[in-house]
Amino acid sequence: MSKTKTTKTGSAQVPHENGRTRPALRFDRAAAYAPAPEASDIVTIKARQGHFIDGEFVESAEGNSFETINPATEEVLGEVAKGSAEDVDRAVKAARKAYEKVWSKLPAAERGKYLFRISRILQERAREFAVLESLDGGKPIRESRDVDVPLAAAHFFYYAGWADKLDFAFGGRTTAPIGVAGQIIPWNFPLLMAAWKLAPALATGNTCVLKPAETTPLTALLLAEVLQQADLPPGVVNIVTGFGDTGAALASHKGIDKVAFTGSTEVGKRIQRTAKARHLTLELGGKAANIVFADCALDQAVEGIVNGIYFNQGHVCCAGSRLLVEESVHDRLIQKLEDRIQTLIVGDPLDKNTDIGAINSKSQLATIQRYLQAGVEDGCEIHQSRRTLPKKGFWCAPTYFTGVAQSSRIAQEEIFGPVLAVMTFRTPEEAIEKANNTMYGLSAGIWTDKGSKIFKMLSQMRAGVVWANTFNKFDPASPFGGYKESGYGREGGAHGLAAYLEVK
Ligand code: NAI
Ligand code: MG
Repeated sequence: MSKTKTTKTGSAQVPHENGRTRPALRFDRAAAYAPAPEASDIVTIKARQGHFIDGEFVESAEGNSFETINPATEEVLGEVAKGSAEDVDRAVKAARKAYEKVWSKLPAAERGKYLFRISRILQERAREFAVLESLDGGKPIRESRDVDVPLAAAHFFYYAGWADKLDFAFGGRTTAPIGVAGQIIPWNFPLLMAAWKLAPALATGNTCVLKPAETTPLTALLLAEVLQQADLPPGVVNIVTGFGDTGAALASHKGIDKVAFTGSTEVGKRIQRTAKARHLTLELGGKAANIVFADCALDQAVEGIVNGIYFNQGHVCCAGSRLLVEESVHDRLIQKLEDRIQTLIVGDPLDKNTDIGAINSKSQLATIQRYLQAGVEDGCEIHQSRRTLPKKGFWCAPTYFTGVAQSSRIAQEEIFGPVLAVMTFRTPEEAIEKANNTMYGLSAGIWTDKGSKIFKMLSQMRAGVVWANTFNKFDPASPFGGYKESGYGREGGAHGLAAYLEVK
């Protein structure tokens, strides 16, 4: 926390990295914000919860369970069933029966009605979902409240509208559902990823078995309650909780017709080898470049950079984890970035003032720390927020590295934490070359005043999503997905329908 002095003229001065002082920014007051925690009594977490199979909550066949904790306090929130191959098999059979007997026979407009209902209940129970998401995963309530939950509801709403219009989505070609989908999701956007997977699958007439991540199973189970509340026919959606082996049993099950996976590139490749399903979509990692030209609105770019990498603790596959800045504005931009990260509030995810919450798990924190070490070993200069971090739980100060070589591990590998690698360029050609110099190709950002420059860059960048003068903006109507090792297939928009349909 910065110490504030006052000059003779009365304007507050705070110490600066260069050893001198600088005028206090409006944000410096943030350090003194009074705590504003969101009440958590809106959620009741059962001590032990089962899988959701065939419309009911059931124990795992072997009676095994595991604990899920709050990563901000390390407190146990509850126990959930640990899925075995037998549990997965039961869920797949329930999904098959529901597909054949009920869901594929239902008029499309009826399917749409269920999705509208799910969307509406999610909105009604939004606060409950937001608090639970922050408790189980560590993300700031401001984000779960303003991003995760509203976007999840919007996704169901958007695909509800497509259910009875599929004949118009593919230029008059006829479509048919694929069948049973096995869907495996990660821990960074637990409810939102469930919505991304379930909504298009259901709208197009498929049934599902969903496997949430082991550190964040709770909002998926709360969603199961919503599905009951919406009277969704039993077996249309089944949720089996567990670890990687549960996911592997689902991905390689011979009774499913489609696998949809979001997670690490390593697991994605393994699934590609073992899946027996006819259809597969993979959304893997990223190493997005945020490209800042000298002619952009610099203050706005700083906000975009901060949002791009520190949003959700950097647990974002499309995070702007590489900053490419035009050499002539490098020093000015870094000064502004330095000032800004010292104002970011790291702490209690349930506090409405919090900018950066807890790292999702102990193992993810260890991964991030290994990369911080690697950056230093590779000779990059490390800069971090000087705020004190909470004692309990898993925390990482917002960090950026300057003097980063393109070959450095922190410039090449996905860190999935609040860590930014800063590099420079002189010409647009050099920026494109550097931006594309990665095995990934999920997203990128461009900051410039010139529209023509944006279009020129766009045509040469190998990234599925490119934001211009903004970052991390999502909408259910926009397709999302990557090039190269970032995976294949698209989620969202009309493109997202194709992943769950046979188009004839
Ligand atoms: P992960 O890929 O192991 O986990 C994602 C999901 O896959 C979880 O539900 C997990 O239980 C399941 N899973 C694990 N092994 C499996 C297997 N053999 N077969 C089927 N399902 C399996 O990712 P992890 O270990 O949590 O994170 C490692 C790294 O992956 C992160 O540091 C980050 O770089 C990247 N990642 C990328 C995400 C994205 O959105 N693209 C999301 C989460 C992680
Ligand atoms: Mg948890």
